[in-house]
Amino acid sequence: MTNNHQKVVLVGDGAVGSIYAYAMVQQGLAEEFAIVNLTKKRAEGDALDLEDATVFTAPKQIYAADYDTCKDADVVIICAGAAQKPGETRLDLVGKNLKIMREIVQPIVASGFDGVFIVAANPVDILTYAVQKISGFPTNKVISSGTSLDSARLRVALAKRFGVDPRDVDVNVMAEHGDSEFAAYSSATIGGLPLYELAKREHISQDDLLKIEDDVRNKAYEIINRKGATYYGVATCLMRITKAILRDENAVLPVGAYVDGEYGIKDLYLGTPAVINANGIAKVIEVPLDEREQVAMTKSAETLKKTATDGMT
Ligand code: 2OP
Repeated sequence: MTNNHQKVVLVGDGAVGSIYAYAMVQQGLAEEFAIVNLTKKRAEGDALDLEDATVFTAPKQIYAADYDTCKDADVVIICAGAAQKPGETRLDLVGKNLKIMREIVQPIVASGFDGVFIVAANPVDILTYAVQKISGFPTNKVISSGTSLDSARLRVALAKRFGVDPRDVDVNVMAEHGDSEFAAYSSATIGGLPLYELAKREHISQDDLLKIEDDVRNKAYEIINRKGATYYGVATCLMRITKAILRDENAVLPVGAYVDGEYGIKDLYLGTPAVINANGIAKVIEVPLDEREQVAMTKSAETLKKTATDGMT
């Protein structure tokens, strides 16, 4: 997969999908970029528009296509699906989007695709689980955007509070990408110093930190209430995950990964750091959790299991 010519197929050219495509172009990633969309005209228009944006980056083929284009792709990214409306939770979307995943994944697999799937549609943990089951792909080759966006939001929020660069904040939001997620503060560091230690020095209380965690948990609602949807953050995180795959980076990123015993949880996709390379998920990095975090993890996993069971029956 680490050849010189790499191909990504975007399925679902809505706001998240097209901004992801733009982020990919900006980073000069993937020599070939195909767009599959229910309305092909929209994909054709976007391909023409994106082509104009390649002028200062790498040469690129960008075009609209059908599912058979997935055959020789390195990555297929699924951004299709209904999005949350104001007042809806991510879990409310399960029925609608499971149906869409079934319709999408079958023709992709039938094309002969054997690269890595990235899934971004919500509720992302449940839908990624479904994509893995429907495709029959090994679990390492199906990745969810998981808590990548939540972790990005938390880094940005903590960076503001502590007056540091977000890139120097090492912290993960874990479990569901949604209302039962939690911040794994006990393993967080800033510049190698435990976050709790730095917080003490700077008189930032546990309550302050829990308020930041809560703001991060609710940030999507704040955005959706104001502009109807969220897209820049998630598109950027999806680009970052794709880059780690295409460049075979072994990057440690918060994603949605399949757990098989980690955190005492089996047979579920949830947000956790993992090593990402050309094969997808090389391994899950199981971070130590304190008591509060372990309780939150177990509760979140129960919520996801219940939604998965109810949604798939
Ligand atoms: C987000 O967190 C809605 O899942 C989307 O922005």
